Amino acid sequence: MMIDDKNFTKYLSRQEIDLAVSEIAQRINVDYAGKEVVLICVLKGAIVFTADLVRHLTIDTEVEFVRLSSYGKARTSSGTVTIVKDIQADIRGKHVLILEEIIDSGRTLKFLYDRLKSSGPASVEIVSLLDKASKRVVEVNVKYVGRTIDDQFLVGYGLDLEEHCRNLPDIYYLKYPN
Ligand code: IMP
Ligand code: MG
Repeated sequence: MMIDDKNFTKYLSRQEIDLAVSEIAQRINVDYAGKEVVLICVLKGAIVFTADLVRHLTIDTEVEFVRLSSYGKARTSSGTVTIVKDIQADIRGKHVLILEEIIDSGRTLKFLYDRLKSSGPASVEIVSLLDKASKRVVEVNVKYVGRTIDDQFLVGYGLDLEEHCRNLPDIYYLKYPN
């Protein structure tokens, strides 16, 4: 699981990622101009994306963290999602943006979206840097997407391979993930 492993192939460079992040931020800055927004970073994968995105935002923001877990196969989520760490802020009447690094089946975000909606926010939208749209199992409306991607297992920029590789500044795909 080292960077020089021949199974790692670069998929998105840090420059391409930065462009995608700043494009998303520009849209959010326009859409939420004059509004206060609660950003909810979905731990752990979205930490790097969140850290980069917030520095491109010119709107008034608060940052919150949530950690979810799903049981089943390690590399994709199963049907059951539970809250490991909840947000601290009261989001009633507030504009909420959920920040994810990647969406696959959609189960994780569907669960979180529905749960946040039930707390009475002014609005809830989803932001995902990457979207494996062809893998969707449950319907979720992702308003801001950086890149729609093929079904490949990716690591780096917050994305992990069994908790490793989140630190890589670029995103790689694994030729032989098993
Ligand atoms: P979903 O609930 O199936 O949409 O799964 C989303 C979660 O699965 C993400 O937040 C990631 O933690 C993880 N995941 C999905 N695809 C990948 C990948 O290619 N690399 C690393 N983690 C992934
Ligand atoms: Mg993950």
